[in-house]
Amino acid sequence: MKRFIVLMIIPFVLMSLTSCYKDVGPVEPEGSMPEGEISFSQHVQPIFNSYCVSCHPSSGNLDLRDGYSYNNLVNKPASGYNGILVVPGDAESSILYKKIDGSGAYGSNMPLGNSLSSTQIAIIRDWINEGAQNN
Ligand code: HEC
Repeated sequence: MKRFIVLMIIPFVLMSLTSCYKDVGPVEPEGSMPEGEISFSQHVQPIFNSYCVSCHPSSGNLDLRDGYSYNNLVNKPASGYNGILVVPGDAESSILYKKIDGSGAYGSNMPLGNSLSSTQIAIIRDWINEGAQNN
């Protein structure tokens, strides 16, 4: 009986050992576009965390902290401008996008005194154009 139990356990031990190696995917070069659909939680919010939350919530009446940002952006009017911060499916009509794209169409470019990389700008643009999902 003991030997039977040991024999039954061996395949599971082997499976768990080999599965560790399969989980390691290809390493993406830093700053490249994520593959497939943009995820708000995995790709957009980390940009806010690194470049925006030092000033937002306090500036522009806009709170971009994790857990608040989505509800404060999507279909919400800007406080300092005449328009909507994020229009799902239409980055060009979204003040959030026009504030980061370097156009200067709505006052100072964000992040104030700095700028996002072209990849980070494209991530936010594509997230909006893909429907601004809470994904
Ligand atoms: C150094 C401080 C600072 C940082 C960092 C910063 N902002 Fe701002 N932001 C401001 C100030 C001040 C305003 C108000 C003046 C204005 O509209 O330009 C503002 C306004 C805004 C507005 C307009 C809000 C409204 O409803 O009128 C948006 C959108 C915005 N910021 C997005 C961002 C994003 C996205 C980031 C990060 C990529 C960011 N900001 C980083 C200071 C900052």
